[in-house]
Amino acid sequence: MRRRCFSPAGMLIAGAILCLVASTAPAPALSAGRTTFSVSSFGAAGNGIADDSEALVKAWKFACRIPRSTVLLPSGHRFLISPVTLQGPCNTRLTLQIDGDVLAPPGMGYWPKARRPLQWLNFKWLDGFTIQGTGTVDGQSTLLRSVSPANVSQHWYISGVKPTLIRFYSSFNVSVRNIRITNSPQCHLKFDSSGGIKVKNITISSPGDSLNTDGIHLQNTRDVDIRSSSIGCGDDCISIQTGCSNVHMKNINCNPGHGISLGGLGKDNSLACVSDVFAEHINVENALYGVRIKTWQGGKGTVRNVTFSNVRVANVATPIAIDQFYCDAGGGGARCGNRSDAVGITGVAYRRVAGTYTYQPVRLACSDARPCTGVSMADVRLSPASAAGAGGLRQPLCWKSYGEAMGMIEPTGIACLQRSNGFVMPLTKPFNYTC
Ligand SMILES: *[C@@H]1O[C@H](CO)[C@@H](O)[C@H](O)[C@H]1NC(C)=O
Ligand SMILES: *[C@@H]1O[C@H](CO)[C@@H](O)[C@H](O)[C@H]1NC(C)=O
Ligand SMILES: *[C@@H]1O[C@H](CO)[C@@H](O)[C@H](O)[C@H]1NC(C)=O
Ligand SMILES: *[C@@H]1O[C@H](CO)[C@@H](O)[C@H](O)[C@H]1NC(C)=O
Ligand SMILES: *[C@@H]1O[C@H](CO)[C@@H](O)[C@H](O)[C@H]1NC(C)=O
Repeated sequence: MRRRCFSPAGMLIAGAILCLVASTAPAPALSAGRTTFSVSSFGAAGNGIADDSEALVKAWKFACRIPRSTVLLPSGHRFLISPVTLQGPCNTRLTLQIDGDVLAPPGMGYWPKARRPLQWLNFKWLDGFTIQGTGTVDGQSTLLRSVSPANVSQHWYISGVKPTLIRFYSSFNVSVRNIRITNSPQCHLKFDSSGGIKVKNITISSPGDSLNTDGIHLQNTRDVDIRSSSIGCGDDCISIQTGCSNVHMKNINCNPGHGISLGGLGKDNSLACVSDVFAEHINVENALYGVRIKTWQGGKGTVRNVTFSNVRVANVATPIAIDQFYCDAGGGGARCGNRSDAVGITGVAYRRVAGTYTYQPVRLACSDARPCTGVSMADVRLSPASAAGAGGLRQPLCWKSYGEAMGMIEPTGIACLQRSNGFVMPLTKPFNYTC
């Protein structure tokens, strides 16, 4: 086979001189038209002790310049990686093949403050990029579980912000598939200001009591397809924030966690826009919520065209929730007082939602200022997880929600959904923003 050589500038050139250059860079392996750069040939020890991030960055820099190339983290090895930014723009169709285990330094928060990252693996400015493989990405944050919430800020980044494990920023046409992601100090997989995202067949697992560990977090991201994946964590299974549209989720298992969530939107009177979200064949178990939309009072903007279809719940506190009075513990008293504005919610469909709840089957708490409209339910059947059901609220709450209920609805009592009101918005004042 003809040897291919690379200049330091990464140009693929033919001829004799180039192979001199190749002696300074490891020869990449060629297979099926792909050029593979293994971190092991760039000096990675792969023993889980030595820091291999320099080798990863070197391999990335070489691969980045060559079309259809792969950076390989081979199986049978454990690569300890310090926080790194792997950035583009790169040549087309770069792949990060994670077959071995990739480990974050345990307790990243114990590092000197200046070196504490907001994210551990930070990908940015990529277009046409894939992460795949049979390996595990391990945030090793179990050590920090024992740190009390009051002490978290001492150990973590300013004001207690813990790093996200894998974050994409301003990246397009990205696929993440087959890998396992575990024990993140905070969010496991985040897409920010990105588009054309495909996530398939991944597993995310962290304990249910690990604080703020969202599974997948989307913000300002469009055209997303997440499917056939299992997510267990201590916060939202999939969290959809402002600026997201055309998000499709299919065949997702959430267990444990807080379920699939749009929001909290509109915090600090901000503008929030989320539209065209479709979730189907969703299975939520042992969770605080099943499918939820949460907005802060005082926000602006809209959530529109959201469908939850074929949702199974088991042992979920509140399977169906719209909460326009959302206020998390960090919100503080005054900030959560009654406001006269709210993020509008319109066009939310629940079709075939069935299973068991432990607290309240349905909670639609919409604001007086901007009632929810076009809320439809068809074939919703929810029963208490145990006959005892002590302390729970068997009755659904339905406040300022307009729409219609069709087919079998159990328990009954979602009376505020009235067909006659449908999409008619009983507004007291016009919207003064554009989404
Ligand atoms: C990204 O996807 C969009 C839409 O499919 C396409 O128009 C664009 O060319 C893609 N870019 C790359 C670099 O693949
Ligand atoms: C899903 O991922 C697992 C773990 O990497 C892998 O063994 C399996 O082959 C993948 N399934 C498909 C359909 O790709
Ligand atoms: C919090 O940190 C202080 C000072 O480092 C320590 O004395 C205390 O035991 C810690 N408390 C908990 C609950 O971890
Ligand atoms: C609602 O969202 C779905 C999913 O993104 C999309 O296919 C559909 O066209 C949208 N409907 C309207 C009326 O915009
Ligand atoms: C906010 O409004 C609700 C419903 O109108 C009312 O019950 C509650 O007392 C109000 N809270 C404050 C702090 O004004």
